[in-house]
Amino acid sequence: MAAADRYHPALVRLNVLLPICYLSGAYLPLAEARISPLDRGFLFGDAVYEVIPVYGGRPFRLREHLDRLNRSLAAIGMQAPRSHPEWATICSQLLGQRGPQDSYIYIQVSRGAELGRNHAWPEGMAPTLFAYVTTLEPTPARFLEQGIAAVTADEIRWARRDIKSTALLANILLKKLGADAGAFETIMIENGELTEGSSTTVHVISGGVIHTPPNGTHILPGTTRDVVTELAVRLNMSCNNSRVPESLLRSADEIWLAFATRGVLPVTLLDGVPVGTGRPGPMFKRMHAAFIDYTHELAGTPAL
Ligand SMILES: Cc1ncc(COP(=O)(O)O)c(C=O)c1O
Repeated sequence: MAAADRYHPALVRLNVLLPICYLSGAYLPLAEARISPLDRGFLFGDAVYEVIPVYGGRPFRLREHLDRLNRSLAAIGMQAPRSHPEWATICSQLLGQRGPQDSYIYIQVSRGAELGRNHAWPEGMAPTLFAYVTTLEPTPARFLEQGIAAVTADEIRWARRDIKSTALLANILLKKLGADAGAFETIMIENGELTEGSSTTVHVISGGVIHTPPNGTHILPGTTRDVVTELAVRLNMSCNNSRVPESLLRSADEIWLAFATRGVLPVTLLDGVPVGTGRPGPMFKRMHAAFIDYTHELAGTPAL
């Protein structure tokens, strides 16, 4: 049997698209990359990660993503295994000759492999570093023209949501709940307040003001959220970072999702009920245009 026959066809297709990955110091074809089944990322989800969009060949907000990676690592008692410039070199090696098409880089750092399957890990482990790049498909036009649907669900995740951990079981169950209901996202409510989406930050627009919950341990500090906050200043829009009651979410004029691979998207249906007019709102249109302009402005500037 040829080596490629052993792989699922989807993986073979991926290998055509993604010839190279980075694994703990080496660049190699993605389909040849191997890690130990004893890796704690595999056994425990003992790993953290980042997803960095690449517009026109340039990683977007790379510094902010790497800063968050280092905060996640520190929060789980790991040292940063690479400096920002070292990660930037890895990213540009992976991007190689891909050309200007949009893509995204995935970076994961796990605590590494050890035989004991010790909950309390031994000191001095060698981390497993993994990174690859793949195509970022264009946002479907209907997402921007008609908006997307979301459902709500009770918050079921752990108490350290600020750590971008690969232990995403609750997030994927929540996302699937929404997908099964024909929605793009599931937005979580905890004690009568908005937290975030299963993989997105949520902004609620009411009376011309953008409301979003403050950063803390209850949500992931989104990199795209910070871009929205910065662009709001440019656009002379007021931004209120404080707790968002469920009632404000349900009476919103507009709801936006913010996340690295799509920037901002308008939610026009929440639990089957139209949001505002049921169409992407005027503030969304201005914010989205400003976001696109911003990515163009950065073209040709250093990623770090
Ligand atoms: C739970 C969660 N919240 C928020 C976000 C948005 O973060 P960012 O804008 O950095 O992609 C993500 C992104 O994956 C996420 O998983």
